[in-house]
Amino acid sequence: MKKDTVIIRLNEEDIDNEQLKKPAEVLKNGGLVAFPTETVYGLGANALDEDAVASIFKAKGRPSDNPLIVHIYDESQLSELVSELPKDAQMLMDKFWPGPLTLIFKKSDKIPSKISAGLETVAIRMPKNKIALKLIEEANLPIAAPSANTSGRPSPTNSEHVIEDLAGRVDLVIDGGQTGVGLESTVLDLTGDIPLILRPGGVTYEDLTKLLGKVEYDPAIEDMTDDIKPRSPGQKYRHYSPKAEMEIFSGDIDQVVEAIRLKASLSSKKGLRVGILASDETKDRYKLNNLISMGSRKELSTIGANLFQVLREFDKLEVDLILSECVEETEIGKAIMNRMKKAAGGNITYVK
Ligand code: TXA
Ligand code: MG
Repeated sequence: MKKDTVIIRLNEEDIDNEQLKKPAEVLKNGGLVAFPTETVYGLGANALDEDAVASIFKAKGRPSDNPLIVHIYDESQLSELVSELPKDAQMLMDKFWPGPLTLIFKKSDKIPSKISAGLETVAIRMPKNKIALKLIEEANLPIAAPSANTSGRPSPTNSEHVIEDLAGRVDLVIDGGQTGVGLESTVLDLTGDIPLILRPGGVTYEDLTKLLGKVEYDPAIEDMTDDIKPRSPGQKYRHYSPKAEMEIFSGDIDQVVEAIRLKASLSSKKGLRVGILASDETKDRYKLNNLISMGSRKELSTIGANLFQVLREFDKLEVDLILSECVEETEIGKAIMNRMKKAAGGNITYVK
């Protein structure tokens, strides 16, 4: 049944607690509330209510084998959600919470199996956005929240994206402006011998190794085939996808520009409408329409903040094919390229 989606606007720096009463009430009654976090907008429901959790999967069209992250506002909530605290956990929480780091723990019996999609573990994070934190506190519940997009689409970085995808499917949307990081949290598995990054994000490999010493990436991050079973089921889907086909060009930037120009010209001759995903430093070298800059190569964090919005803009331009530059895979660049490769379904050309 179609819902009447209520939209309320809040300013993160000037929150009126009165305004959080209604969304908190919706959560307590088993409803769905989309809210901003520092990474992307989340689609929240009471994590301890099996039916509410089921309605998240339904609203997003999410496969049931993809588990959800539980959001908390205070570490005191952890004890009822996890069955043990691994040795590095406290150090990580002290340093990175609230912030874009999701930790995987062994789950407690309280976690509905729908949340963990049948796994023995649960993903938990404390978001940094003050609206998110106050909302969870006001509801006084652990809140399950995937990104507030239709499954497979780019994650939402403002409330318009949420409304585009989910109007009529959720009870309430809190508009808290543009999100900061723009890419989803880093997912770190602490249940094995070595901490394992299941999804790169705002807290980087470099940040984590500085604190923990040895950290590894789950090999499934780079694998677009079905050969390796990812520990993070979300990694296996084509994801973040614009409507158009997308091809990424990787290598020396001058050669990348040349390769994209050539492919654009060939594709246009075939009658395709081509979009170019360029950068501030290169955008004037194409002299083509339907070009969007992801930002300056000198500021990878800005590129991260813009990426999902840019992918959605290509939908509005109704292009058939997006030809994209790559960025350096260090720091946040690793997460940017991970999302780009997923958006392109692994379609990457290495130019030499
Ligand atoms: O930044 C974020 O993390 C955002 C905001 C809203 O907090 N949320 C988010 O949720 O990105 P979602 O559902 O779009 O992505 C959750 C990812 C998926 O790749 C999922 O497979 C993985 O986390 N995940 C969840 N629980 C897991 C578990 N127990 N073990 C391994 N991976 C898990
Ligand atoms: Mg998602």
